[in-house]
Amino acid sequence: MALERTLSIVKPDAVAKNVVGEIYSRFEKNGLKVVAAKMKQLSKQEAEGFYAVHRERPFFNALVNFMISGPVMVQVLEGDNAVLKNRELMGATNPKEAAAGTIRADFADSIDANAVHGSDSLENAAIEIAYFFPATDVYAGR
Ligand code: TYD
Repeated sequence: MALERTLSIVKPDAVAKNVVGEIYSRFEKNGLKVVAAKMKQLSKQEAEGFYAVHRERPFFNALVNFMISGPVMVQVLEGDNAVLKNRELMGATNPKEAAAGTIRADFADSIDANAVHGSDSLENAAIEIAYFFPATDVYAGR
């Protein structure tokens, strides 16, 4: 299997609920290692840049305002098939459709306040990791 890295964000709703540790625990129990991490209050410009692909979507402004409503935890996860593994652990975008036992089923309140972000492809993972972390701040997991 391929050793990959993916970008994960614990969003403001989950940070406010004090479940950062519970979410990290799910990563660790499922073979994903935290190899970079920081808590951060995103600026409007940072949130808009991060979600630039969604700029034309009707939910864009609400999404940006939600992402700057409080601090987030940003981390790089490393492991076998990390991109897909993290997406599986997260569950569907809408927590009402998320499988039982996923992070969004257990911690998300709504499609807009949905607890976590995870890169959706290896290509986007590289772009998103570089958006938040200089290469020297990402550590070798094994
Ligand atoms: P998307 O990339 O489709 O989902 P995912 O986070 O599962 O990769 O959408 C990005 C974020 O935009 C999503 O996590 C929450 C927000 N969003 C809404 O607020 N309303 C919506 O209808 C959709 C599709 C997304």
